[in-house]
Amino acid sequence: MKFFLDTADIDQIRKANEWGILDGVTTNPTLISKTGKPFMEVVKEILKEVDGPVSLETVSLDAEGMIKEGRMLAELGENVVVKIPMTPEGMKAVQVLESEGIPTNVTLVFSPAQALIAAKAGASYVSPFVGRVDDVSGEGMKLIREVKEIFTNYEIDTQIIVASVRHPMHVVEAALIGADICTMPFSVMEKLFKHPLTDKGIELFLKDWEKVPEKPF
Ligand code: E4P
Repeated sequence: MKFFLDTADIDQIRKANEWGILDGVTTNPTLISKTGKPFMEVVKEILKEVDGPVSLETVSLDAEGMIKEGRMLAELGENVVVKIPMTPEGMKAVQVLESEGIPTNVTLVFSPAQALIAAKAGASYVSPFVGRVDDVSGEGMKLIREVKEIFTNYEIDTQIIVASVRHPMHVVEAALIGADICTMPFSVMEKLFKHPLTDKGIELFLKDWEKVPEKPF
């Protein structure tokens, strides 16, 4: 399963890159606004740092506007993926952009039916939001299981991006289900490293190392 960061924060992206586990980035207008920087500045920084797919979101509500924005965004880098909301207008835009060779990521997907529609429209990626489903007393991971089953049934090659991830178990469950990608906040990626027995083990080894005579380092 690929690891994407769901962020527009360049420092977080650089750190994950140094760890060697970053396969791509997803952004949205909220994440871009959190940086407090001009849009183009943020996007250029990210595209310079990331080799894998970088999702940038359109904000128009009509297909014509989404297509125009999508074409502009795609010009910024070969690895740009245009994020389009799950609406009928959005699906028109997906069809046009994909036919021009511009990959799309259908966002704000909350049901298996919506994921199936996105795939039928030809989207390269679909982003079901697990955390926001959990927030309204639904079962986010059930959504991923169902989308995966449907895509497997029909050999659909639209990639599933598990989005709106809130904690490490969302990542583990996504991998168990066989999702293609999990996009997560930096805080969740950091938590994936953690285990109290790892910290305890290091402490003990270092303590015992002190007792070794004539150490080379
Ligand atoms: C997906 O690509 C979205 O950017 C994101 O995962 C939304 O997550 P949130 O529900 O934490 O805002």
